[in-house]
Amino acid sequence: MRNIGRTVQSSIYRSGVYGHRPVVPTSPDALADAARRRMSRTAWSYVAGGAGAQRTVEANREAFGRYRIVPRQMVDVGQRSLTTTLLGRELPAPVLFGPVGALELAVQHQRGRGGRGAAPRNAEPALARAARDLGLPVVISSQASTPMEDTAATLGDSPRWFQLYWSSDDALVESFVTRAEASGCEAIVVTLDTHVLGWRTMDLDLGYLPFARAEGIAQYLSDPAFQKLVEERVRAATPPGTTSARPTIAAVRSLLSMAAHHPGPTLRNLTQPYARAAVETFLDVFSRSTLTWADLAWLRERTTLPVLVKGIQHPDDARAALDHGADGIIVSNHGGRQVDNAVASLDTLGPVVDAVRAHSGADPAGPPVPVLFDSGIRTGADVFTALALGADAVLLGRPWVYGLALAGADGVRAVTEHVLAELDLTMALAGVAETGQIGRHNLAG
Ligand SMILES: Cc1cc2nc3c(=O)[nH]c(=O)nc-3n(C[C@H](O)[C@H](O)[C@H](O)COP(=O)(O)O)c2cc1C
Repeated sequence: MRNIGRTVQSSIYRSGVYGHRPVVPTSPDALADAARRRMSRTAWSYVAGGAGAQRTVEANREAFGRYRIVPRQMVDVGQRSLTTTLLGRELPAPVLFGPVGALELAVQHQRGRGGRGAAPRNAEPALARAARDLGLPVVISSQASTPMEDTAATLGDSPRWFQLYWSSDDALVESFVTRAEASGCEAIVVTLDTHVLGWRTMDLDLGYLPFARAEGIAQYLSDPAFQKLVEERVRAATPPGTTSARPTIAAVRSLLSMAAHHPGPTLRNLTQPYARAAVETFLDVFSRSTLTWADLAWLRERTTLPVLVKGIQHPDDARAALDHGADGIIVSNHGGRQVDNAVASLDTLGPVVDAVRAHSGADPAGPPVPVLFDSGIRTGADVFTALALGADAVLLGRPWVYGLALAGADGVRAVTEHVLAELDLTMALAGVAETGQIGRHNLAG
């Protein structure tokens, strides 16, 4: 991508002459505010919420204020490029769409639009269309609302990775990895920081977990290994006895949602035990808390794709991951959704980068080990700061979900273009022509 800043900026100002405002706000707070007004309370809480008292969510943002960019003058930056190379593939910019589960919440749980669960599943297809237009990779979530094969079909030739939640069932993990390879994924991202769900107070206070209503479990429902587990569960189940609990409207809604999400006709699903058994099975096999670094070898043996570990916040964990076969590191605290009062993700980036560079310095002939970053990126200046601290690329999270809620694929594209435009203009004003030239020398102190 060349000089995208001026292009996007001029197009917004030109449209303004005709009285048109941007499809989605360019200011991060206005963007979040507009999305909050559009989404239902449960959807907003799930997407925006973090753990406990929300201190990590806040810390992630505050940390960016502590690293200041230094503007530089009289450098020829007339031709700027955001292009970069990651895992051997050239990308138009060092930006990926981070894995976001239960994405349907952004499009189906909208205020004033009624209808839950039964609406068409168009969240990942919208994301995929935007990503394809921009040429930026999508990290497809294990908790997606669309089977990965369908998302891959919409993506066409555009790059995609697969994010794995390491289930307690080996056959299911193997099946996910095999399907990801067949779907053209170019890397496996294994998320380590969510082997149990964090204490998410905004969801807890609403008693709301999307997966309990079969939202965000499309990868599982479409998986042969998972279907086998559900069959076994149904076969082993004793017939339901009489229950004294009185059915509530919420329970009926949940049941309808499960039936609507399950493969096959909703009416038939309502009369059979499979839809409910699938949710129970998912809740049983979602993750395992017994994993240790030694287990990484098991995954490493099952795929030829690069394996990146997501959720690293300590240099020792980065070193251990590399020692056990990881091909890349994603510095992330899951957007503050897991541990309250945790260290800001950005504060851990520099030390992890140093550890990884020192580690790979021991093997200069080996392939470069990418260090990616997420948690708190809202603007192009934020991307610049993360790159300056040594990240090779960043994952965008909540901002593009807000764009999706506001304007579908156009919204995702617009939010991303705004971030890229500001990155480009920040580079111009900091005297940098190529993303590869951004470094700690661009920061104060
Ligand atoms: C609604 C939502 C769902 C998410 N689902 C996943 C997921 O399925 N897998 C995963 O590895 N990370 C998931 N994440 C974490 C993101 O990949 C990313 O780490 C986080 O959003 C970064 O924080 P930020 O959005 O505040 O920048 C999710 C984040 C949000 C907001």
